[in-house]
Amino acid sequence: MSRDRPSKTARKVALNVISLGAKPGMEEVLPAEIVDVTARLLVASGEVGRGAVRFARSRWAVAIYEAFDWMMPGQYEAFAHRKAFCERQVRESIGSGATQVLVLGAGYDTLGWRLASEYPGVQFFEIDQPATISRKAKGIEKLGPRGNLHLIQEDLGNRRLVDVLVAVASWNGSVPSVVVAEGLTQYLEPAAVQDLFVQCGVVTGVGSRVVFTYVGAGDDGRPDVGRWTGLVMWLLRAGGEPWLWSISPEELPQFLEQAGWTYAPRFTDSSGRCGVEYHAVALK
Ligand SMILES: C[S@@+](CC[C@H](N)C(=O)[O-])C[C@H]1O[C@@H](n2cnc3c(N)ncnc32)[C@H](O)[C@@H]1O
Repeated sequence: MSRDRPSKTARKVALNVISLGAKPGMEEVLPAEIVDVTARLLVASGEVGRGAVRFARSRWAVAIYEAFDWMMPGQYEAFAHRKAFCERQVRESIGSGATQVLVLGAGYDTLGWRLASEYPGVQFFEIDQPATISRKAKGIEKLGPRGNLHLIQEDLGNRRLVDVLVAVASWNGSVPSVVVAEGLTQYLEPAAVQDLFVQCGVVTGVGSRVVFTYVGAGDDGRPDVGRWTGLVMWLLRAGGEPWLWSISPEELPQFLEQAGWTYAPRFTDSSGRCGVEYHAVALK
């Protein structure tokens, strides 16, 4: 992934969320206010203009996104379910005593900004690569900064989480926290994913959880998104944000255990699969 330019996939997810707001029935799935806040954030950060947002809200955009669903079946609506899943998990974690929320690879996600004012006693942290998070920071500044929302510029492929957070005075490594890695793991090298989970264990207290999504692996150990996997992988590589990690759901519990976490399937629906990704929760 290019470190010099803001993430295109982060923008794509945000535009998807906005367009899902125009799809009948999705208002029951999408978290409250997510569509409007995402639209305001994208414009305020300079990531897209008002025209792009207007188009994303149109039924034409919905039709185009739906038409492209053949490549990654179910993935368009899956973004709404992914956002709802992560937010539900964060709210439940806070309800169970978590006092810190850390969003890794946050992109233009608005969970931190929306929830920070609702939970003034909770500290929210977001990490993403400098080009993306600095653009987002510009937008947050215009939307209205939150005293308990901290944006951190870092490439997690280059620097370990423990080293990043040690420099953040307001981070407390011994309290229960919830870490969100939504749409991130597939963009990291396999060794970096394993290490990231280990690091999450080092920087959080007992009772913490990691809420994450991942892409399932096929028999050959590579990402499997169905019939058009080859084309999708090619497009992602050509766009500069290739998928590097995937795992089969059967292997996930052991993978997490080796990193010091316990897989908690009771927090997800059946297999956890939604579109071409899986939702998962790990407990400490
Ligand atoms: C598909 S986007 C998802 C954004 C957000 N989590 C969401 O779901 O709306 C992937 C995000 O991961 C970030 N990312 C990818 N590799 C990263 C790395 N090595 N360090 C930090 N962030 C990274 C990208 O910049 C991008 O914002």
